[in-house]
Amino acid sequence: MFPVISPEMDSRDPYDYWALKTIKRIMGKNALISLSSRELGEMLGMSQQSASRIILKLIDEGFIQRKIEDRRQNISITDVGLDLLFSEMNDLATVLEMDNQLDIVGKVISGLGEGRYYISRKSYIIQFQEKLGFIPYLGTLNMKIEPENEGKLRRLRNSPGIHIDGFVTDDRTFGAVKTFMGNLNGLECAAILPERSVYSDVLEIISPFFLREKLKLSDGMKISLHVDL
Ligand code: CDP
Repeated sequence: MFPVISPEMDSRDPYDYWALKTIKRIMGKNALISLSSRELGEMLGMSQQSASRIILKLIDEGFIQRKIEDRRQNISITDVGLDLLFSEMNDLATVLEMDNQLDIVGKVISGLGEGRYYISRKSYIIQFQEKLGFIPYLGTLNMKIEPENEGKLRRLRNSPGIHIDGFVTDDRTFGAVKTFMGNLNGLECAAILPERSVYSDVLEIISPFFLREKLKLSDGMKISLHVDL
């Protein structure tokens, strides 16, 4: 049996996707577009009223932001809106069996020393061993993503990855995370991200190896992480 996914079951509205894509196409690399209501209608190929309705819906859903100045609408796409575009991209890439590997470039940075605390929770460790096949070194190597690689990070954020359940202890809750198997200079590792989108340009890596020692890494050094989506 094939899984049935009808348009009604897909929480994403195809119109939202299409309108966002059109706005992004016109926006290009700019952070915002400035349009009159008439131009907005022309851009979306519909009446001013219909275009305004779509724009209001996109604002309501948190996909875009709008500021009105001198009768012109300054429209920018939010992180949530970009997530929608990137999740569509991932969907298509999967359906078309396209490239499902990424090389993400960034710089080694130090964190606040919290990685060790999280990674050493027993419930996470058991799942890492079961689902990733390794017990990680207790910590995360933090990598600050180069701005040109931001799109790749967004693709990762909007891919399902290997799910690791969250859990509750006596005094607090540990969130679900998702992981992506990969390697750093041939050494096995996995990217690890909170399941709930956090818009940070820092990617955390776990590995059975103490990567700083094995790869002689220090802060500021450029690294390229190879991951499977
Ligand atoms: O938060 P911070 O990166 O400072 O520390 P941590 O996550 O507790 O990790 C301890 C140290 O081990 C950091 O310097 C990490 O960069 C490093 N590390 C590593 O080299 N290889 C790993 N597989 C995990 C962490």
